[in-house]
Amino acid sequence: MNDMTATSAERAAKLEGMGCKRKRVEDIRFVQGKGNYVDDLKLPSMLYGDFTRSPHGHARVKSIDTTKAAAVPGVVAVITAETLKTVNLAWMPTLAGDTQMVLADGKVLFQNQEVAFVIAEDRYTAADAADLVEVEYEPLPVNVDPLKAMTDGAPMIREDLKDKTEGPHGKRKHYNHIFSWQSGDEAAADAAFAKADVTIKEMIVYPRVHPCPLETCQCVASFDKIKGELTLWGTFQAPHVIRTVGSLISKIPEHKIHVIAPDIGGGFGNKVGAYPGYICSIVASIVTGRPVKWVEDRIENLSTTAFARDFYMDVEIAATKDGKVTGLRCYTIADHGAFDACANATKWPAGLFSIISGSYDFPAAHVLVDGVYTNKAPGGVAYRCSFRVTEAAYCIERAMDIMAQKLGMDPAEFRMKNLIRREQFPYTSAFGWQYDSGDYQTALKKAMETVNYKKLRDEQKAKRVAFRRGETRELMGIGVAFFTEIVGAGPSRACDILGIAMFDSAEIRIHPTGSGICRLGTKSQGQGHETTYAQIIATELGIPADSIAVEEGNTDTAPYGLGTYGSRSTPVSGAATAMACRKIKAKAQMIAAYMLEVHDDDLEWDVDRFRVKGNPERFKTMTELAWAAYHQVPPGIEPGLEAINYYDPPNFTYPFGAYICVVDVDVDTGMTKVRRFYALDDCGTRINPMIIEGQIHGGLTEAFGIAMGQEIHYDDEGNVTTASFLDYFLPTAVETPHWETDWTTTPSPHHPIGAKGVGESPNVGGVPCFSNAINDAFAFLGSTHIQMPHDHWRTWMAAEKLGLHA
Ligand code: CDP
Repeated sequence: MNDMTATSAERAAKLEGMGCKRKRVEDIRFVQGKGNYVDDLKLPSMLYGDFTRSPHGHARVKSIDTTKAAAVPGVVAVITAETLKTVNLAWMPTLAGDTQMVLADGKVLFQNQEVAFVIAEDRYTAADAADLVEVEYEPLPVNVDPLKAMTDGAPMIREDLKDKTEGPHGKRKHYNHIFSWQSGDEAAADAAFAKADVTIKEMIVYPRVHPCPLETCQCVASFDKIKGELTLWGTFQAPHVIRTVGSLISKIPEHKIHVIAPDIGGGFGNKVGAYPGYICSIVASIVTGRPVKWVEDRIENLSTTAFARDFYMDVEIAATKDGKVTGLRCYTIADHGAFDACANATKWPAGLFSIISGSYDFPAAHVLVDGVYTNKAPGGVAYRCSFRVTEAAYCIERAMDIMAQKLGMDPAEFRMKNLIRREQFPYTSAFGWQYDSGDYQTALKKAMETVNYKKLRDEQKAKRVAFRRGETRELMGIGVAFFTEIVGAGPSRACDILGIAMFDSAEIRIHPTGSGICRLGTKSQGQGHETTYAQIIATELGIPADSIAVEEGNTDTAPYGLGTYGSRSTPVSGAATAMACRKIKAKAQMIAAYMLEVHDDDLEWDVDRFRVKGNPERFKTMTELAWAAYHQVPPGIEPGLEAINYYDPPNFTYPFGAYICVVDVDVDTGMTKVRRFYALDDCGTRINPMIIEGQIHGGLTEAFGIAMGQEIHYDDEGNVTTASFLDYFLPTAVETPHWETDWTTTPSPHHPIGAKGVGESPNVGGVPCFSNAINDAFAFLGSTHIQMPHDHWRTWMAAEKLGLHA
């Protein structure tokens, strides 16, 4: 078979384009230990920085004495807030419109807060000397409870905001209040509740957790005094934003800042924002004239860089007695820690939390969120989540189960009755979101059939009888969750970060020999972008995926982009890639028409070539056209074959999924065993089914960790008691259950290739599914809601409260 005789299907298969389970090209270097991470970077005369951190959760800083630290051989400089004030950098702006201390200025507001930065010839000297910085603290009353933050007499966290009655998002109600934000129609929701047959109300807490990527946050700053230029290598999910924010903060002109994000070992939202470590490294490089490296250790990562969740959601559902939902209300207190450093689009201080009506047809709904300050680390990032979507999905999925329980209905049947129906799409929710496409009933039906849901319920019924008779001490729980996400931030009319509209970009250059390079404003942290963007190009342009290099993470070469988080790469940059391809294809068509001496319209596209309609023997392949683009372009046309696209999506995309989990719970030990976990995802057009499966496996493993054991916990004195992997549950292969994955395909109507995001779906849908399973195990004994995390101790306690150990 040669290229002349191969069928279209055979030629298409050779391209390894969309739909192909193409092996991950980046893994060739990763599995051989040849990745190039920030800590692999070694520059001549490089120095190392380390922090002195606060042992207190809240204290006045009476004095800082750096004499002993500075005297340690090998120490080059010690920086404090006083040093930073000389360059006006003691405080920095946050992505949420607040300001944050870079180094403690007068007070410390959370344990492990950065107090001084020691720069030394090697990392160990810096760490040893950091311990010798002498700080005199006067401890202050601590508050780590967001529900007490706005009470009379609560410790004032932010004295710098004492007299501010207005915040970036409107009026402040209390000195620890950050913002109030609401969405929906309050009067309509109240009216629905006034005439409801049945209502439920529950406080659902999504505890503070941490994205804890395996590679911690780190950077190397190198300031060239002669050129006045800064090069910053770092673990950045959004390199261009770091460049722009870096320029605004440092006043170094943006064209003199070069930001490079090399390989990144997981981000999950933790590497979106700017941290004191970056600012201190930059200042230290400017001060010393030498490159400075800063690398967090695990404790620093878990206790100081961005956390996630910490939402206290008081949710209510109204329904008719035959099980149709009529109203939803939710009042939420959001704990943002000591500084509002949440990574949300500017207009949405509570992110996209108003996706809380989920997959259900609620005629009326209202949410109100109050953000508050506490003595905890700042952050509030979208941990494998699109701006608070995970909190919303957890809340509605627990609430739906609680309502089903009250109505005496099966939770799957109750969901089926209330899911938005296929013919309702595009569907406008009570919060005004326009869901692009969906076929929910088909997905849930497929999930139920695949696991043989009825048989599982029958088995559970029998087990419950046996339990009541005392024949077994094991309970069986079946968790059902149906989620809808809102990903692909975003339409610039809805989303910006610090005024920068949230679009994204792709620049493609096809070389004369028919291979090419694609550069993007996104940045993979393990998602396999080098593999999948090339697949989009392969299908769009008929060039083998192996002939396309994909490059991200260098602000000097990549077009401006807003980065990778919230499953936005495929919905936004994936679209930009397809659109750039189409520009290239349009030019290639003109060249083909010129070469074949026909009109453009007389040509049709066939996998990797333009052929003359009705005369398929006459064609020009993309490889031939690439060559021609550099020497035989039609008169009046520029040579070359390249294009750039900045894509501002018309809407978000709304992936969805149906998950079912089966657990067995030993009431005497609290031990739980996930017997089965089935995940059906619909992310529209699937670019690489193998990568999607990998994304689902990873996200479900994170969801398992969150639901079954994770919590960043503070004691009453403000000590963070879960700052290492000894205390913070990170599932390994030993604990992780087996995952069954499945899919349906409902393309997005507005995305050029019909694709929706998928990366975060399993985290969003997995957590409520596990939690529903544990709760379902106890529901027949009268338990309504057991808070996460469902570790063995809490599960044992749930059994204890129900009197099962008597
Ligand atoms: O923004 P992020 O890369 O985290 O999330 P994503 O856009 O959901 O993509 C995660 C990975 O899944 C990428 O390698 C995508 O190309 C791939 N993917 C896919 O193959 N098909 C889809 N419909 C969506 C994502």
